[in-house]
Amino acid sequence: MPRSKVVLITGATRGLGRAMVDEFARLGHKVLGCGRSGKDIDRLRLAHGTPHDFYAVDVANDEAVKSWASVMLTSHGPPDLLLNNAGVINANARLWEIGPREFDEVIDVNLKGVANVIRRFAPEMVKRKTGVIVNFSSGWGRSVDAEVAPYCATKWAIEGLTQSLAEELPSGMAAIPLNPGIIDTDMLRSSFGDSAKSYPSAIQWAKVAVPFLLKLGPGDNGQPLTVPKPEMH
Ligand SMILES: NC(=O)c1ccc[n+]([C@@H]2O[C@H](COP(=O)([O-])OP(=O)(O)OC[C@H]3O[C@@H](n4cnc5c(N)ncnc54)[C@H](OP(=O)(O)O)[C@@H]3O)[C@@H](O)[C@H]2O)c1
Repeated sequence: MPRSKVVLITGATRGLGRAMVDEFARLGHKVLGCGRSGKDIDRLRLAHGTPHDFYAVDVANDEAVKSWASVMLTSHGPPDLLLNNAGVINANARLWEIGPREFDEVIDVNLKGVANVIRRFAPEMVKRKTGVIVNFSSGWGRSVDAEVAPYCATKWAIEGLTQSLAEELPSGMAAIPLNPGIIDTDMLRSSFGDSAKSYPSAIQWAKVAVPFLLKLGPGDNGQPLTVPKPEMH
């Protein structure tokens, strides 16, 4: 069993983030998290009280991330594992059919949101010279399909941003672009429709992903990694 870690997860309220909260907490780690929905954050607080800590924060809002980081760093110190998991996908459509508001939201959350969180949390991690930053990429950060161009653009950008960040970190730290695999969540249902059901659930995925994440260290810095496929029951 690794020592108890402080794990910070963006997008902790649903899907992969929510399943990771349960699994990290079950293994004895302290989980800090955010999501936009205040109601979902209240539910998380009920399910996981102290020492865990959850706030309603929109990662696309740098001022909100700044305030959240200040409270988290003061109360809990720098995270050992920072998981930039929050993400959105455009509704399936060809690029020229996607309006500017939807395009901006995908970029603001998936790309600028990750930079906001790193801007506000990384300096304290760098000072301590320990910690792993995992930025959630996708199969669509390494390949493409029709009708998800904005999403693909952000995930390809995350691969580059993360590998560049890896060059900047002191030894003892790591930045890793991570493809989580294909998992039945709200996001997958948006692009795959009913066939999302034939993929593992977030709970099944977290049983494999969390031990995988806990083993990441400086030796993985800059490596594009993929979570091993969970068994389907
Ligand atoms: N599921 C898959 O098969 C798959 C495959 C490849 C990559 N991924 C990646 O894995 C990550 C998690 O995906 P998922 O399938 O779990 O998606 P999901 O089920 O749609 O959950 C997304 C989570 O992110 C939160 N979120 C969205 N925008 C946010 C914002 N601006 N600020 C803070 N939180 C925000 C959502 O909560 P609120 O809406 O309440 O904010 C929710 O908790 C994403 O980065 C996604 O691109 C997933």
